[in-house]
Amino acid sequence: MSAKGRTTLRLDKVLSNMGYGSRAELKKIVKRGAITVNGSSVKDPAMHVNPYQDTIEIEGEQIHYREFVYLMLHKPPGVISATEDIRERTVLDLLDKSYLTYEPFPVGRLDKDTEGLLLLTNDGKLAHELLSPRKHVPKTYEAHIAGKVSDEDVALFSQGVTLDDGYVTLPAELTVLSIEERENGPLSKISLTIHEGKFHQVKRMFESVGKKVIYLKRVRMGELQLDESLPIGSYRELTNEELALLGKHS
Ligand code: URA
Repeated sequence: MSAKGRTTLRLDKVLSNMGYGSRAELKKIVKRGAITVNGSSVKDPAMHVNPYQDTIEIEGEQIHYREFVYLMLHKPPGVISATEDIRERTVLDLLDKSYLTYEPFPVGRLDKDTEGLLLLTNDGKLAHELLSPRKHVPKTYEAHIAGKVSDEDVALFSQGVTLDDGYVTLPAELTVLSIEERENGPLSKISLTIHEGKFHQVKRMFESVGKKVIYLKRVRMGELQLDESLPIGSYRELTNEELALLGKHS
């Protein structure tokens, strides 16, 4: 039998974890006879249920239990990749309250001014798999760089460049998408795939070749691609296909 098939938990714990109220509040709801399990009215809020298999209803509405939540956020600039901060708005401030009961956290960090793909989940195992330095999960960025990104830069990035602290990066794939003439000089639009995640890595890689990143967006992390139809600042749950790409089967 699968782990889900064997799982039994206290009913009030399941419901309070899902944000249906504190245990004391749930006790009152049970007293009103408003909760049923498999069609029978609940008498004891501490009864054990299998939240994956039993039909649990509150005021006639069925609840859908799950342990993990997986959200794709199209991060806007101006918010930080943290769960709390005394001064700054965080990515969690963008989420509906109902998701916060799952205690999601961002998988890795994007700088405050960086946009794009950020996965939010409470699945620590998946986060570890995506972030572990030993796994070398590729991350692809699109960026605008002041000046002309040259073939020499492409060659240097493919060998590894030396950052300001002496660290030599792993080979990275740099592609120049276009070079445009702007009022204040040329602007290069590039795509870069790196296989590690050092602090400010993309910006520091360009600094190492004397260039400045003026816009940065992450478009891919491992098998997960940013859904470009997701408006900036909004988020959605991962689809079953995306979960399968991450090795998660619903
Ligand atoms: N590299 C950076 O410099 N910044 C980010 O936000 C992500 C990668």
